[in-house]
Amino acid sequence: MHMRLQSVLLVATAVFWTTIEGYRNGQVSVACESMVPRHNVLASEHTSPYTITADKSKFSPEDQITVNITASAPAATFFQGFLIEARDARNLDSAAVGSFTLVNSAISQLLTCGTIKGSAVSHTNDAELPEIQVIWNAPKDSPPSIQFLATVVQHFNTFWVKIPGPVALQNGVTPVPTQPTTSSTRPETTTPPILPNSVSSEGCGSSKSCLWDPAGCNPATDYNCFFLSFAAEGQGQGQGVVFELSGPAEGYVSFALSLDKWMGNDDVYLCVREGERVLIDAAYVAGRTRPEVSETKLSDKAWRLADGVIQCRFRREVHIPQDPRRFNLDQSYYLFLAHGRAEFGLMGRHDRQPLISTNMKVIAGTPENMSGSRSLLLLKFHGAFMLIAWMTAASTGIIIARYFKPSWPDRTIFGQKVWFQVHRALMTLAVLLTSIGFILPFIYRGKWSNRAGVHPYLGCTVMALAVIQPIMAMFRPHPDSPRRYIFNWMHRGAGTSAVIIAVAAMFLGVGQQTLLLPKVLSTVGLVGFVVWGTVAWLVLELHKRGLFKIGKHSPGDDDVILSGSSPSNCQGPMFKYMVLAVFITGNVVFLIVLLHSINSV
Ligand code: HEM
Ligand SMILES: *[C@@H]1O[C@H](CO)[C@@H](O)[C@H](O)[C@H]1NC(C)=O
Ligand SMILES: *[C@@H]1O[C@H](CO)[C@@H](O)[C@H](O)[C@H]1NC(C)=O
Repeated sequence: MHMRLQSVLLVATAVFWTTIEGYRNGQVSVACESMVPRHNVLASEHTSPYTITADKSKFSPEDQITVNITASAPAATFFQGFLIEARDARNLDSAAVGSFTLVNSAISQLLTCGTIKGSAVSHTNDAELPEIQVIWNAPKDSPPSIQFLATVVQHFNTFWVKIPGPVALQNGVTPVPTQPTTSSTRPETTTPPILPNSVSSEGCGSSKSCLWDPAGCNPATDYNCFFLSFAAEGQGQGQGVVFELSGPAEGYVSFALSLDKWMGNDDVYLCVREGERVLIDAAYVAGRTRPEVSETKLSDKAWRLADGVIQCRFRREVHIPQDPRRFNLDQSYYLFLAHGRAEFGLMGRHDRQPLISTNMKVIAGTPENMSGSRSLLLLKFHGAFMLIAWMTAASTGIIIARYFKPSWPDRTIFGQKVWFQVHRALMTLAVLLTSIGFILPFIYRGKWSNRAGVHPYLGCTVMALAVIQPIMAMFRPHPDSPRRYIFNWMHRGAGTSAVIIAVAAMFLGVGQQTLLLPKVLSTVGLVGFVVWGTVAWLVLELHKRGLFKIGKHSPGDDDVILSGSSPSNCQGPMFKYMVLAVFITGNVVFLIVLLHSINSV
């Protein structure tokens, strides 16, 4: 209610700019109203380093006011985009009023906001400007006060929306009280107070509910403690819940309320570090996307930054009927606890699999110590079993059957040929591991998961082929039977298809969002396995066709072991054994890399 804000508020609207290619030219009329460049990025809440000045604070109809946007060094020396409007100061959400005249048409252009031609000005390209000057023409029917508003984009995702500029009053009009600060005016100008004491686990289970990792840790004393607590407060209408969040993180700590264990459709609360302060916001996650920050009112905000630990506290009403995206806190939800990096106000994906509460919990309910887990143990075993089965057991079993039938001719294991016993053992192991591994994600999810993409379909095909193989093998005709070739082809065909589809399933499997494996490790492991296996297969295939023949030794594959086969004699079985040994060694190394990556999340 300051006197200076009375009367005609001249609203110069925000600058709009975006990294989306089509907006580089400043043709941003779509943003006339909101003045928000990109909805999925947080506006910067540092104090804006730009100043908007006007050469007059009073005007008469059809007067001209010169308005400047200037970067104030050292905080900023330039900006790349802007959008400026004048609005009725009593209602900053109203349409732009008056029209502009350009001072420099190379770097600025007129836009038509609403029905008025030239009622906003924007940039023409993404050149770096230290300042911009425009002239505003007061309309005949001006509101009693106007305010200039500007959105300024510094660089990429760093921008300030609706920076309040000077207010100008119409001469001879009685000043009226201005509208209280509108909710849409970001950035917030008030910084929440600093938390006097560290968030702590005192009172957990008795006066507040706590979710923590590791269980029972105290954020006041343990550096590596991710912690969320919440406690209902007040009664009836004004009932609210006080949340406390703490954890070592580079960019943000956050929690989400969710009706399921999926990310998506969640009510999210963020404590984002920006320089030496923490911004506390409510957001909504529609899918596997960045949170969209909402304008929801959170009260009693406070934060603390120390040694890389971000802490924050705020209060939320149990019911927020104005914002349907805010969940009611008197119902039960799973709680997610996540943290990660943030850059330019742009939140990165969480660093680790979020901690997910084991059970659902009524947020405004009785205090409780909650347990949670990041390790989706069932899915980890699923991945590990499938990798052991298809990467190592099945691929080795197939290579043995294809290239090592003639080997070890003099030896048997339990009355059967060596290659056959080894092949059968490895394939049985693969089928067993596949069968157990197959049911684990269904137990985890409790149903068919329609968010896992093609992976489950490939997985089911592999499972089907894996079941058919041993059944076919049981009913195979005798080796001398004239119909034996049919079995041979079917068995080979199904086996080869199964491995190829399994490899595809593994590639899609390691990319599943539910089990966020470190990308580099899992890619190295899988690509390495494929390259390694392909090379081994090629070498053995060429060898079988006699392409490595050196000298005149030539009895072929089915040869007996030559006691003195020299290293240069690639035709000898020694060479094949070496290839097999090298293949298995490399394969196991890549398997270990992948198992390690599963173990690390
Ligand atoms: C040939 C090998 C594989 C087969 C046959 C297979 C099969 C399946 C099937 C049938 C499902 C669907 C479950 C459902 O709909 O609820 C599934 C889910 C899943 N698989 Fe695999 N899988 C294989 C390899 C892998 C690997 C190597 C990984 C990771 C290391 C992996 C990770 C996952 C994950 C995380 C899910 C759960 C998706 C979700 O519901 O969020 N899979 N798999
Ligand atoms: C705007 O910038 C111009 C050019 O730098 C300067 O001459 C003028 O005084 C500035 N006006 C205001 C109102 O700051
Ligand atoms: C909850 O955990 C805290 C801290 O570890 C402990 O002091 C308290 O006794 C626990 N309360 C219940 C009800 O288990």
